[in-house]
Amino acid sequence: MHDLTHCQLIYANDSQQHQVESLQALIEHHELPIVLNVELSVDKLTQKHRQKLSQTATQPVLLLDDKDKLSWLSDGLSVAPEWDKLQRRVVSAGRKSELLLQAAKITADSSVIDATAGFGHDSLILASTGAQVMMLEQQPIMALLLFAEQQRMSALPNWQKLMARLHIINIDALSYFESLKSDSAVNNSQVIDVVYLDPMFPEDSYQDSKTGKGAKVGKHMQALHQLASPPTLDEEEQLLTSAQAVVSNNASHSGRVVVKRPQHAPTLANQQPTESWHNEAVRFDGYFA
Ligand SMILES: C[S@@+](CC[C@H](N)C(=O)[O-])C[C@H]1O[C@@H](n2cnc3c(N)ncnc32)[C@H](O)[C@@H]1O
Repeated sequence: MHDLTHCQLIYANDSQQHQVESLQALIEHHELPIVLNVELSVDKLTQKHRQKLSQTATQPVLLLDDKDKLSWLSDGLSVAPEWDKLQRRVVSAGRKSELLLQAAKITADSSVIDATAGFGHDSLILASTGAQVMMLEQQPIMALLLFAEQQRMSALPNWQKLMARLHIINIDALSYFESLKSDSAVNNSQVIDVVYLDPMFPEDSYQDSKTGKGAKVGKHMQALHQLASPPTLDEEEQLLTSAQAVVSNNASHSGRVVVKRPQHAPTLANQQPTESWHNEAVRFDGYFA
């Protein structure tokens, strides 16, 4: 049984009862260990008000703005999956333009596990190929943001097919990999082509310590650092080893594990990849089964 996370849900106006109920229904349906303390905002959700809310709150704060977008308030900043902003990348995604797709080499027939879904941005790029993507996210608040974004976007006709290929689960990746192992002992049909890992990385390490080059940590990652911590070396080893086991559990099939790292970061669990792809900010390390 998970510990329950109590969150304050502040909604923008009276006419949003239905949206609040539908969030409650998502929590119930997906058995998320979240209790919402629902409140109608007395003030307009201006930046100043958000700042004040995040300074005085004793629980994580979720906001439902007047466009029915759910976000999480972290240090005065609202963060949320921003799937509609990925439209251009999703439409034109291909191996030429997306390093992730060069590394993952998937097709419309592939089954992919994004074991560290976060805001789901990389999952969308993976699913843009036509592949089915299981999105695993251990943090209930992040999982709720993902479910809410999927529900919101599924109402838009242009996005429906893509949304139907995303399968979000609030689970720790290691437990999920374990469950796949026991499933495949009974039924050999589960073939996973790619496991994608983008674990947390120490906040100050996205830039090269000597040259200062590399990615600055953005607001989404900054916020995530409050919810999730980087894995220990031991956890990195477990994650990589069990991900590799998942893509090699079928004798007639060879899959790969793809790991995202800041460009200058050491490899996951100090394991040398088979091949790497990088630009100035990020690197994708491929471990072929
Ligand atoms: C760096 S973020 C991933 C960002 C993501 N690639 C994106 O495009 O938004 C890492 C996320 O993985 C989640 N995570 C870390 N370890 C996990 C695990 N063992 N199982 C499931 N989720 C995990 C964290 O809670 C966090 O939300």
